[in-house]
Amino acid sequence: MRPKDLTQPQGRFKLRHRDQERRDAMHLNTITTATLREMKAAGQKIAMLTAYDFLMAEMMDQSGVDVILVGDSLAMVIGGHDITMPVTLEMMIYHTGMVARATKRAMVVADMPFMTYQVSPEKALINAGRLIQEGGAQAVKLEGGRAMASTIRRIVRSGIPVMGHIGLTPQSVYKFGGYKVQGGTPAEAQRLLESAKVLEENGIFALVVEKVPADVTRQITNELQVPVIGIGAGPHADGQVLVAHDMLGIYEKRKIKFVKKYAELGAQMRSAFAAYSKEVKDGVFPSEEHSY
Ligand code: KIV
Repeated sequence: MRPKDLTQPQGRFKLRHRDQERRDAMHLNTITTATLREMKAAGQKIAMLTAYDFLMAEMMDQSGVDVILVGDSLAMVIGGHDITMPVTLEMMIYHTGMVARATKRAMVVADMPFMTYQVSPEKALINAGRLIQEGGAQAVKLEGGRAMASTIRRIVRSGIPVMGHIGLTPQSVYKFGGYKVQGGTPAEAQRLLESAKVLEENGIFALVVEKVPADVTRQITNELQVPVIGIGAGPHADGQVLVAHDMLGIYEKRKIKFVKKYAELGAQMRSAFAAYSKEVKDGVFPSEEHSY
């Protein structure tokens, strides 16, 4: 018999806990799919970042970030993996709940984890539904081009907004043989443009384009009605997204050309931890000031 997982709510409490979580997370935020479309039409750039917890999401929400993505990059920057595939639907629901409870303005988009949408459109719909109903997301994102058309159509027709993701799609890293630039040849660029159009025809409300040459992004952005959000895709997209832990300088494991560091919090945190540790060992902390 498998031992009980005591980190999960048990029995009757489980139901009450889950209900409460749902109620806490459910509200209509200011930024919607319609707002994003209007922003593209007005030439206003869209700022998107990833978040995985309440505090960071609240700070972003209060700082003018328009879209908060609960990315499956969770596996890397929180979970310590080198790839995104270990993230499960349960983990995404849990983290999406934290982010949803923290936001009033920004739109919350939850990534669909590896193998929660590739098997069949029906399974994808059920899993997308859980991210909305249990996680409190306002939309889901999934990776892939033309092959995802019927899945996207199925989810969108059921009333759930879907954000597409093409170019370097990290869940396919083994197929690509690494985190390489995509769309670098005219044939590849053409394939990306065609994928983008197929996804739009099938109902996406926005598209993430990752690690592709700036000119390719420009063409995709010009030819699509829906907003295009770039990451490592140059300046011409309708908006930009970065992984928060990269731009804050906390995730020090990888050096990426397309990441601009807006802070060096990693260095600051290390020095705070070292100062605390030294003061405790030297008997300096706590002083009278921090004692009762
Ligand atoms: O998981 C993630 O953080 C993402 C962004 C990099 C777009 O998909």
